[in-house]
Amino acid sequence: MALYALGDLHLSFSNPEKSQERFGKIWKDHEWKAKKNIEKLVKPDDTLVLTGDHSWGNNLVQSQRDLEFIAAFPGRKILLRGNHDHFWKANQTKKLNDIFKGRLYFLQNNFYTYKDYALVGTKGFCFEGPFYVDTRTNMITGYDRDAFEHSKELIERERSRLVTGINAAKEAGFKKFIIFLHYPPTSILETDSTFTRIAEELGVEQVIYSHSHGRERFHDSIHGMHHGVKYSLVSGDYLNFKPIKVLK
Ligand SMILES: [Fe+2]
Ligand SMILES: [Fe+2]
Repeated sequence: MALYALGDLHLSFSNPEKSQERFGKIWKDHEWKAKKNIEKLVKPDDTLVLTGDHSWGNNLVQSQRDLEFIAAFPGRKILLRGNHDHFWKANQTKKLNDIFKGRLYFLQNNFYTYKDYALVGTKGFCFEGPFYVDTRTNMITGYDRDAFEHSKELIERERSRLVTGINAAKEAGFKKFIIFLHYPPTSILETDSTFTRIAEELGVEQVIYSHSHGRERFHDSIHGMHHGVKYSLVSGDYLNFKPIKVLK
């Protein structure tokens, strides 16, 4: 029995025009590379958390084939909401859990369990600019204030969703937590954030996140141990579509 994580499959079976191949050769046939790796690693009694950006579909009909592709993977599949998951309206998590009952598990405002751990998570958010950059030095000299103010609202909404799941797990008696986020826990301007503080206060062992694509983005946030919490980036292209083992 093991717990695995992988993010950003960006499937597009019903939207071939959105194929990721335009982003470089790492994405060539990436869905089949992911499937092969998952089928090799994940056993029927394992759990695989997929940390968002599952599908390019604009709605559930367009995402159906992508979700069925995921449902056919071995093990229990827990899905987090990514910024591109338009099939998943924020207030329809329960509906998705009903539709895919016993086949896919959607994580938002709720929690799942793995041994004596509560698996909690939300999309999260971190400020991604616009930044103003000095082209001579390549240094950030400022950022868009309005976008920054708006990001605070999004972070608060995501904090509240995460805390809802954490409180439900606490009420059920759980003391050990793994946090899953789609967005990185910190922006490129931060070393700490709302999400890192929650993880530290809760004594969380691990925070798993994705969303960062491409060599120049992979190290935008925290990797490894930070204030007693282990942070892991699991975006598909970073891992060459091979899930990491989070817990045995
Ligand atoms: Fe993504
Ligand atoms: Fe994303």
